[in-house]
Amino acid sequence: MDDNIVWHQHRVTRAERAAIKKQKPCLLWFTGLSGSGKSTIANALDTALFERGYHTFLLDGDNVRHGLCKDLGFSEPDRVENIRRIGEVCKLFSDAGMIVMSAFISPFASDRRLVRNLLPAGEFIEVFMDTPLATCEERDPKGLYEKAREGVIKEFTGIDSPYEVPARAELRLDTSVMSVDACVEQLLAYLVERGLIA
Ligand code: PPS
Repeated sequence: MDDNIVWHQHRVTRAERAAIKKQKPCLLWFTGLSGSGKSTIANALDTALFERGYHTFLLDGDNVRHGLCKDLGFSEPDRVENIRRIGEVCKLFSDAGMIVMSAFISPFASDRRLVRNLLPAGEFIEVFMDTPLATCEERDPKGLYEKAREGVIKEFTGIDSPYEVPARAELRLDTSVMSVDACVEQLLAYLVERGLIA
């Protein structure tokens, strides 16, 4: 870090920004294989919270890779940098007092830990989409697993690139056996239980 760069303290705190919206900031970090349901469930939760009047924001894998991270691919260092940038953006949104959802494979435990440590204790909620690889591959919504099996796409998560299963995720959802509504109910119940929403 450059010695000539200093932190600025803002007069309005993150708690005050959140209080004006009558909510508490947090980050729901959806992680899991491609096709595990991250985007679907994050979108459904976003909608449910929005309809209840909460100020939310959703950052999604493919969208972010069209802009903020368009220079990054899927090598290990690129994925690390991808999650580092996204983590910092999520922190900024949570500092603005919002309930943030993110949907990225985020295959490495150390990167997810890094983001967890950016936020105050209790505000990072890791949601492990524990849908079996066989189901994700069967769904293959973008035809990417087929291409990966054929060797057309290299370093595809779950095929020839690793996914490190979260050891202590706050929530675990398996969309091969749970409906979208059931997942959203469980997420909302967790947020209520933690006093993050009413
Ligand atoms: S990561 O690992 O967190 O940096 O990946 P992420 O930014 O979430 O991007 C995942 C989406 O990119 C598409 N895609 C790939 N995924 C995994 N491995 C490889 N090699 C790859 N190439 C392209 C894929 O559509 C992922 O979208 P989701 O929504 O997860 O299916």
